[in-house]
Amino acid sequence: MRIFDTHCHLNHEDLYNRLDEVLESAKKVGVEKILVVGWDKASSLKAIELAEQYDFIYAAIGFHPTELNGVTEADFNELMANIDNPKVVAVGEIGLDYHWVKDPEERKIQKEWFIKQIEFANLHKKPISVHNREAFEDCLNILKEHQPQYSGVMHCYSGSVESLAEVLKLNMYIGLDGPLTFTNAKTPKEVCEEVPLERLLLETDAPYLAPHPLRGTVNEPKNIALVLDEVTRIKGLSKKHISDVIFENSCKLFNIEL
Ligand code: NI
Repeated sequence: MRIFDTHCHLNHEDLYNRLDEVLESAKKVGVEKILVVGWDKASSLKAIELAEQYDFIYAAIGFHPTELNGVTEADFNELMANIDNPKVVAVGEIGLDYHWVKDPEERKIQKEWFIKQIEFANLHKKPISVHNREAFEDCLNILKEHQPQYSGVMHCYSGSVESLAEVLKLNMYIGLDGPLTFTNAKTPKEVCEEVPLERLLLETDAPYLAPHPLRGTVNEPKNIALVLDEVTRIKGLSKKHISDVIFENSCKLFNIEL
């Protein structure tokens, strides 16, 4: 079993402070690679530090839509100067979050930063990791107008089956995690059934979004096994086949040797 946790925050103190234990239990269930995703300058730098320390860890760097307050052009330039580091494999997480941000002026700023970071990724030939919460229409319009040239993933995809077609048209991948396993998760299960296996990625978003029956606890990469189990059940294929294909998808997207 080869598993790639393509969205994880080992740079978050809940995991960072007990890293050895977290990594050891992840390895036991077959997690071979982990993409640590930043949300601001400090967390992105920490992601790079982890990626340089462990050969199986990679970093995504960028500014999350709820973390834009006070971010300056100098902060952006300083962080993004690391884009050519060989362990930096994506720009993320970037996107729109209308759940936490209601003010139209702040939403406008989110859009500007989202576009700026997509264009930066295109210029530096990197895929993107997209955070979208309750902003699907605006998010999709931006992705259509500023298409990610090196693809990307809709991290923790929460859209409908109908919208799935739109994302697939953009040649992007669908990331599924803990919510897929929730007993009341009708839409994610439908999405999982519908999405071609070649476009699916697995992720945890740890320490957030712990899967059922661990919902509400501190999530860890090892719990990705529960998400894989649910994908296996829904797709009705062998677990080995599913994990192999998804592992290949992940390496292909992030330009990492198998
Ligand atoms: Ni995240």
